[in-house]
Amino acid sequence: MTMGKPLPHDAAPLHVTGQARYIDDIPLPADALHLAFGLSTIAHGEVTAMDLTAVRAAPGVVAVLSPEDFAEMPDCSPSVHDEPLLATGMVHYLGQPLFLVAADSHLAARRAARLAKMTYRELPALLTVDDALAANSRFEQGPVIWTKGDPAAAIAKAPHTVEGSFEVGGQEHFYLEGQVAACLPQEGGDVTILSSTQHPTEIQHKVAHALHLPMSSVRVEVRRMGGGFGGKESQGNALAIACAVVATRTGRPCKMRYDRDDDMMITGKRHDLRILYRAGFDDAGRVTGLEFTHLFRCGWAQDLSLPVADRAMLHADNCYHLPDIRIESHRLKTHTQSATAFRGFGGPQGMVGVERVMDHIAQMLGRDPLQVRRANFYRAAEVAGPVQTTPYHMAVEDFIGHELVAELERTSDYTKRRAEIAAWNATSPILKRGIALTPVKFGISFTLTHLNQAGALVHVYQDGSIQLNHGGTEMGQGLFQKVAQVVAGVFGVDAGAVKITATDTGKVPNTSATAASSGSDLNGMAARAAAETIRARLAAFLAEKHQTTPAKVRFADGLVTVAGETYDFARVANWAYQARVSLSSTGFYATPKIVWDRMRGTGRPFLYFAYGAAVTEVVIDTLTGENRILRADLLHDTGTSLNPALDIGQVEGAYVQGAGWLTTEELVWDAKGKLTTHAPSTYKIPACSDRPRIFNVALWGKPNREDTVGKSKAVGEPPFMLGISALMALSDAVAACGDGSTYPALDAPATAERVLAAIKRMRAHG
Ligand code: MTE
Ligand code: MOS
Repeated sequence: MTMGKPLPHDAAPLHVTGQARYIDDIPLPADALHLAFGLSTIAHGEVTAMDLTAVRAAPGVVAVLSPEDFAEMPDCSPSVHDEPLLATGMVHYLGQPLFLVAADSHLAARRAARLAKMTYRELPALLTVDDALAANSRFEQGPVIWTKGDPAAAIAKAPHTVEGSFEVGGQEHFYLEGQVAACLPQEGGDVTILSSTQHPTEIQHKVAHALHLPMSSVRVEVRRMGGGFGGKESQGNALAIACAVVATRTGRPCKMRYDRDDDMMITGKRHDLRILYRAGFDDAGRVTGLEFTHLFRCGWAQDLSLPVADRAMLHADNCYHLPDIRIESHRLKTHTQSATAFRGFGGPQGMVGVERVMDHIAQMLGRDPLQVRRANFYRAAEVAGPVQTTPYHMAVEDFIGHELVAELERTSDYTKRRAEIAAWNATSPILKRGIALTPVKFGISFTLTHLNQAGALVHVYQDGSIQLNHGGTEMGQGLFQKVAQVVAGVFGVDAGAVKITATDTGKVPNTSATAASSGSDLNGMAARAAAETIRARLAAFLAEKHQTTPAKVRFADGLVTVAGETYDFARVANWAYQARVSLSSTGFYATPKIVWDRMRGTGRPFLYFAYGAAVTEVVIDTLTGENRILRADLLHDTGTSLNPALDIGQVEGAYVQGAGWLTTEELVWDAKGKLTTHAPSTYKIPACSDRPRIFNVALWGKPNREDTVGKSKAVGEPPFMLGISALMALSDAVAACGDGSTYPALDAPATAERVLAAIKRMRAHG
């Protein structure tokens, strides 16, 4: 079987030898122009004068476009048309594009962009959650509120209560390949766009709109991205539109690439937020009533903030049955970069809140946090009892948390190590260790129901070679290889026999972003459908020739067997061609069963849940707050994996990225709204040396209960939230510095400074 084999990433040899082509590697015609934006140096205000004389006179500059050069300013927003390509009059954040330079080289364009003389009338900027709350600056009229049961009453009569406030930082995507696009003008005003995007159809749609062209005149091609992580769902629109506009006006090919600092200054990041919580619980730590308030800092434009904040609400329960719960979600508008999609799409922000509550309750009761977590778990799918529902009234029918966590507890030796760590801490005054086990339950499907569809186009050529096209994009996650394995499985050939091609809006139209971890679920099914249509035609053709039934024709090992005869697949393809049988087919898939009412917060937004759990052990230095992950044990549910090698890679990478979010990756804006951490020198993603010293990663390979491709489960985002265990382990280590009477209340990211401050708080009480 080709499906399920742990094959390497199809492009791995190209990646490691430097032959994999990214957009910046593609040679453009010699007359190509290179673009750069001139950026705002204030966070909020009005541009009163823009002197671009020096910019226009700079060496290599061919054209400079300011807002005056547009009769109608193109819009870059993926949602509500609130993102002009260039700021029109008002400036909304420091780093906002104000004008556009086209030059004969990348450097010339960037150098010239710095020569502008801008005059502003500066206005007070709303930078923080508190600023925005005070000014009632928000998207939507007021907060979105979902309630189930009567949490206030439940909390009032609970034997114990807890409340707190928790700051959770944002995160820079730090894709290795920055944002980049190119536009190649075609005859009759048509354009071809190369874009590093997770969403080719959105690029096509936005470019068509900007150029007043029908979508059929715009073709977008994406061979691969050097990472996206959600940061290329919408943030590439501006570059593609800028290239298309200049290419159309000049008739010359255009390319635009942000350098790292510009990328960090211009584009949106993960939303930071403040979480307020109030819970009532019993002696076992069982939560009887819970109230959450999410205060999301969304930045200047709406972008994807509403669905991101929704998904946080949808994951506020994580693995826990919360009978009485209220979630209030504020989407605050500030004069900062427009926060956007980032792996987990708000899910991590929602989930980390309830994990904080579990941790806090355990400290108050003096119990092992794992006991408290378990006491709150949803009932196992196999155990009888009334159906338990999520805060949004979806029945939880597939909960495997009990067995999965029990298995990880055993393989990681959690209980024994926890006791050993306590004993070790008692004898170690300077270094303290901590350990935590946290679970994950993540909903799979787009919450915008119509996005849950995909198309594919498969060709078999007369020599038997196979070409695969689908609407998904490759960003390193291995989607192309997985889908190729599915198609190879249908034809009974090696995965290597299936030619993987670039995503192309001209081949498969109306695609959804490769996002919400749904790439293989959706495109795998669509491609399988296309391949099965062709196989059925081949089988019918051979069956007729051999006077048997199509069901008796077998495709395996590159061979086709019928009525005792065996032929090469290539031979069969050629025969079928000679007999005028169509060897090309589209395929389509739409996810079944899902319904969702976002305003009321009820329905079945997800086809199924993906589960996982992690144990992290850390050590902290109580003199400096510095810390390390000593060991991580992960067990993650991939259903029947389509490719265990790629899935383990996803789980490892997601955990490290999740741990980075909550520990070392800190975004700092100064009092004027300038992002001061806009380069790798100041913004610390985990380095190789930060990975866990001992890293045990295993897949929970039981089949998906839902009918997904090969019974697999989506894997892209869910394991990101395994990184929450790193924050909770740090909390555990800090707690060891006190006498148990106070909760460490570590905010995230738990940088060395924050850990040190928390240690001081603990010792003040100790
Ligand atoms: N893995 C790599 N190597 N690079 C990426 O950019 N993006 C993540 C995840 N894994 C990403 C990644 C995000 S945010 C998503 S939604 C999924 O991959 C998208 O791909 P999939 O749907 O095929 O899993
Ligand atoms: Mo992923 S945040 O859904 O691109």
